[in-house]
Amino acid sequence: MYLQKQMAHKRMGSETNVTKKLFIKSYGCQMNVYDADRMSDVLRPLGYALVETPDDANLVILNTCHIREKAAEKVYSELGRLNIQKKVRESQGEQMILAVGGCVAQAEGEEIIRRAPYVDMVFGPQTYHKLPEMVARAHRGTDTVLETDFPAESKFDHLPTPEIKEGYSAFLTIQEGCDKFCTFCVVPYTRGAEYSRPAAAVLDEAKRLAGMGAREITLLGQNVNAFHGDAPDGGEWGLGRMIEEVAKIDGIDRIRYTTSYPAEVDDALIEAHRDIEALMPFLHLPVQSGSDRVLQGMNRRHGVDEYRRLVDKLRHARPDIALSSDFIVGFPGESDRDFDCTLGLVREIGFVQAYSFKYSPRPGTPAAAHELQIDEQVKSDRLSTLQELLNTQQRAFNEDCVERTFGVLLDGRGRLDGQLIGRSPYMQAVHVDADSDLLGQIVELDIISAHGNSLGGQLAKTESDLSERAIA
Ligand code: SAH
Ligand code: F3S
Repeated sequence: MYLQKQMAHKRMGSETNVTKKLFIKSYGCQMNVYDADRMSDVLRPLGYALVETPDDANLVILNTCHIREKAAEKVYSELGRLNIQKKVRESQGEQMILAVGGCVAQAEGEEIIRRAPYVDMVFGPQTYHKLPEMVARAHRGTDTVLETDFPAESKFDHLPTPEIKEGYSAFLTIQEGCDKFCTFCVVPYTRGAEYSRPAAAVLDEAKRLAGMGAREITLLGQNVNAFHGDAPDGGEWGLGRMIEEVAKIDGIDRIRYTTSYPAEVDDALIEAHRDIEALMPFLHLPVQSGSDRVLQGMNRRHGVDEYRRLVDKLRHARPDIALSSDFIVGFPGESDRDFDCTLGLVREIGFVQAYSFKYSPRPGTPAAAHELQIDEQVKSDRLSTLQELLNTQQRAFNEDCVERTFGVLLDGRGRLDGQLIGRSPYMQAVHVDADSDLLGQIVELDIISAHGNSLGGQLAKTESDLSERAIA
């Protein structure tokens, strides 16, 4: 029924050649990037084509993030700017539908309508499949469309099969929501309870992505290793098994997954790191703090020792694995000593990359009501100390990569003419002078230079190059 409706739209679109312009701006996590693609998939049959700027768009969607206050506040300033454009367009007799999707919409639906009454549509992350209907209502209506329903199942059941964008690296959401309720975090409230897609649906989507040219797939979930999808043969598959099956798909050479919750890394996942060559040796495993006292206050279900043991197991299984993490500084009650423990853990584990944030009190979360909030200046100082250490480690790791040879998936053009860019197994951007025929290929690159955030490479000498040189 839904498919028929889509096809009808498609026919209508091509016969009348109506193309409407859609601009989506995504904030926050990679799941939002995936969601933005799904929004454009669902709107394409209605004649909406993506454009690069909001300037003459007919529909502008801000796909928002509520994780920290700054991220949420950005939305209101962007809305203010867009309203000016909207008014100009209206004075020219044109309509620009202004929509807010994502987690701010979920958390602050009514508040958005109050603060920005010119917004036409407000919709939460579980309602994207209803976009065609919402857009039709926004076209007609005088009231703001507000959709903040929950269950994730219905969304995945009704979204069309993804179209791949340019590029050889694709995201695939396999899990949504989170039941862990870390005391600082809004995700359980904005994205709802944990939900895993059935394994067969994940495999179908992965096969389609491979068919469209993807060589690398990143499996996504707010809590991706909580994945327990219904298996095709009854029972359930965890993340380890899911990765094993995705790795069997022809054309898929690289697999990553993010973001994981340490207490839920099971043996099957560790074995996957040992046994599956396509699974890249780089893992983002947020620890948040190096102090047991703080971790307890955060309601994380791992202590520092458990985290250490987990890293040991992972390194035992995959000796070349490198780790990245997330940190929060200035969580309520965090003492200088707690913070020192975090610095100690960063050094001890040797994280090669990390995201770090000042604690941001989020409305409705338990930690926001904590009495011992930390002074803003203390938070800023701790953040810069931590970031300095993390940057030093990142640079040292990049420098250690010089003179090594990596398989790099070349998936884009660099800024300079004749330059291609790709990702190393460790997610570092690598630049290389190479022919554009190599786009989409995994090529062996000798790493010749290291920078803060990227590496420089050159095509590795092949065996025959070397023997020719030996003869000469
Ligand atoms: N599922 C992931 C977290 C997703 S949120 C996990 O288990 O870690 C991404 C990161 O944002 C978190 O890891 C945390 O470091 C940070 N974050 C979340 N809420 C925050 C808050 N209130 N203040 C500051 N940072 C926060
Ligand atoms: Fe947030 Fe903790 Fe879940 S950080 S996403 S509540 S694991």
